Amino acid sequence: MAKIELREGLRLQPGPASVVVMATCQGEDGKPNIITLGMYMPLSFRPPLVCIGVAPQRYSHRLIDETGEFVINTPPISLEEQMHYCGTESGRRVDKFAETGLTPIPSLKVGPPRIKECFSHLECKVVQKHTCGDHTLYVGDVVATSADEDVMNGDVLDILKAQPIVQKNHIYYSVCAK
Ligand SMILES: Cc1cc2nc3c(=O)[nH]c(=O)nc-3n(C[C@H](O)[C@H](O)[C@H](O)COP(=O)(O)O)c2cc1C
Repeated sequence: MAKIELREGLRLQPGPASVVVMATCQGEDGKPNIITLGMYMPLSFRPPLVCIGVAPQRYSHRLIDETGEFVINTPPISLEEQMHYCGTESGRRVDKFAETGLTPIPSLKVGPPRIKECFSHLECKVVQKHTCGDHTLYVGDVVATSADEDVMNGDVLDILKAQPIVQKNHIYYSVCAK
């Protein structure tokens, strides 16, 4: 089998960055926004750290810089349409909660709300910020976590029940048992 050379190598990336999350953030004016992110990755168990890659031109970039907080909400495949909307429209122009019908619920320890319809939530405070090419990498200290009871087996997420969204080049999939 011949190997082909690819100019945009990241399009091959099949790993953790492909799980789609919806990050909530809010600026000093207290108005919440939602941004869809493929660039999300867990980094450390102790302390619990995660990172996200956000392009500087996103409205959410400004909001995260203003308050230093964000929440990683993970949507099930049934929220595909709302997830795509939040990844193609800007909070500069629209209120994404109002337009999608998603429900903001107060977080336990940070200002930005959780999205009720998502099955898990990691509340984060920014502890590091790095410029990486055309994105900013924010490292978040996870200060509170919560999840829907019915997708958990004890302390462990059951991804077959949760049905997270996996994306490759903006085609959306979920997971099934082998
Ligand atoms: C599936 C998907 C994944 C995305 N991943 C990222 C990402 O990791 N980082 C990023 O900066 N933008 C990403 N985007 C684009 C933003 O979500 C999009 O530009 C959004 O409209 C920005 O919203 P805002 O201006 O309200 O912040 C993604 C979009 C989609 C649909």
